[in-house]
Amino acid sequence: MAVREILKMGNPQLLQVSEPVAESEFSELGDLVTDLIDTMTAAEGAGLAAPQIGVMKRVVIFGFEHNERYPDAGSVPFTVLINPELEVLDHEVQYGWEGCLSVPGMRGMVPRAQNLRYRGFTLDGTPIDRTVDGFHARVVQHECDHLDGILYPMRMEDMSYFGFEDQLRDMASSCPAQSTTT
Ligand code: NI
Repeated sequence: MAVREILKMGNPQLLQVSEPVAESEFSELGDLVTDLIDTMTAAEGAGLAAPQIGVMKRVVIFGFEHNERYPDAGSVPFTVLINPELEVLDHEVQYGWEGCLSVPGMRGMVPRAQNLRYRGFTLDGTPIDRTVDGFHARVVQHECDHLDGILYPMRMEDMSYFGFEDQLRDMASSCPAQSTTT
């Protein structure tokens, strides 16, 4: 299929709420999912949401064995997730560094729920129902935020932990990602 252009922060489409996929539309999503996979692979990303390539549908993909951007993260199974619904399971919050293909070259420290249940559908309409934690939970929250027009800097609490990847190395090592309960 095709590697598509990834919209960048500042593009108003990234701030829009995407539409649910109707049951009758699932059979037409094959080309979109292939484009998402090709685009994410070319950009070496850990996830990608349909609105990032200008398609305002509630479709995200994520997953990796090993990602150079997140060398300490465990693997996350490759997943196509349609019409996701997220349920935060408790009040435990994790702080960790995130990047985004729509905010290239930058990183920020973002609070996310540590424990998450998510549901949705695969491309062939099979239901997904998973309870996850840690980095897997972070990736799902990041990607699904795109479907509601939310970029990770909008989730940050302290903008002094936001900056260019190549400048943040010292700060990243002196302030490792931590998990905390609030
Ligand atoms: Ni993103």
